[in-house]
Amino acid sequence: MASIQLEHVEKRFGDDVAVRDLSLDIADGELLVVVGPSGSGKSTVLRLIAGLEAPTAGRIRIGGVDVTDTPPQARDLAMVFQHYALYPHMSVRDNLAFGLRMRNVAAETIARRIEDVARSLGLTPLLDRRPGQLSGGERQRVAFGRAVVREPRAFLLDEPLSNLDPRLRGSTRAELALLHQRLGATMVYVTHDQEEAMTLGTRVAVMRDGAIEQVAPPTEVYRRPANCFVAQFVGNPAMNLLPGASWRMAAPQGLETPRSGLTVGIRPQDIALVGPDEGDTAGRVELIEPLGGTALAHVRVDGLPRQLVRVLLADDADIAVGARVGLRPRRDRLHFFNGSSGCRITATDESDGHGSD
Ligand SMILES: Nc1ncnc2c1ncn2[C@@H]1O[C@H](COP(=O)(O)OP(=O)(O)OP(=O)(O)O)[C@@H](O)[C@H]1O
Ligand SMILES: [Mg+2]
Repeated sequence: MASIQLEHVEKRFGDDVAVRDLSLDIADGELLVVVGPSGSGKSTVLRLIAGLEAPTAGRIRIGGVDVTDTPPQARDLAMVFQHYALYPHMSVRDNLAFGLRMRNVAAETIARRIEDVARSLGLTPLLDRRPGQLSGGERQRVAFGRAVVREPRAFLLDEPLSNLDPRLRGSTRAELALLHQRLGATMVYVTHDQEEAMTLGTRVAVMRDGAIEQVAPPTEVYRRPANCFVAQFVGNPAMNLLPGASWRMAAPQGLETPRSGLTVGIRPQDIALVGPDEGDTAGRVELIEPLGGTALAHVRVDGLPRQLVRVLLADDADIAVGARVGLRPRRDRLHFFNGSSGCRITATDESDGHGSD
């Protein structure tokens, strides 16, 4: 296994910049998830690491060795895509063996590796079937198994689960996390699904417009998003972002930015609905969406006519559409951002208010 470093990597397609000045240090054995909206450059980053694209600037190192000019075959990495291509006329066993046979690996070694990988991925009973006789999740496991038997230096996974149904995606994701633990393999996993990123990654790199906005462990990205973009991208339901002046609440001491220049972030689960005169602000419930176990209230707050504030409720909360309510955010869960740059503002007295969860 090997570490991977990108140093000031840039990739242009003509005049379009797909990846801009991107530096990233992926430790040996780490599972790094790259997450971001469509077109943000995630697949391009993987293809650059794999050697399928050449950077227009910057260097790439694998295991400490500069591979920027090394062809893909010589990098010894395995890629798994959303649209895996299994050979339909071959059994699962032959699909797993194919790449090794091409490399003239000894038959005994092939047999042993296939047995090990099939056991760890639950493929043993399926070895004699053909891809057409497998479910989508089983096929995806075979595609992944084909990468694992090669014993590459790192795995590059590009949305490998996105064509599975949500339930299967959840269980396959858990299998993948277990496999990562067992193999201790370096993995770079691309997804546009923030939930997948949060549950899977030891660290998460959030991309936008070809650049990394934040790279940190999932809890850090969630609790201390670096800017408004990350704040709204990570977490479901999404964080409320409100103009600082619209909200009657104390900003933390030591904050230098005037209230009018602030954007205040509050997650829907960090606001309590109280009596109309008891909160920091008041409004009217416009919509309640049941989410199963919880419900999401959309509140039209006085003085904020163009924006609905989302509040997460217990689904048995006694609140009806049309009710006047007060909103009381948890003060230790407020996020402050610079209203123009969007960057997080750290007040001089900001302490870690999340110690209790
Ligand atoms: N071969 C190419 N030629 C020209 N432009 C490209 C090429 N490949 C990617 N791009 C552009 O680079 C940008 C990043 O694309 P990329 O595929 O890396 O995004 P992504 O984050 O993987 O998106 P998605 O979530 O939709 O897969 C996009 O604007 C895309 O149009
Ligand atoms: Mg992509």
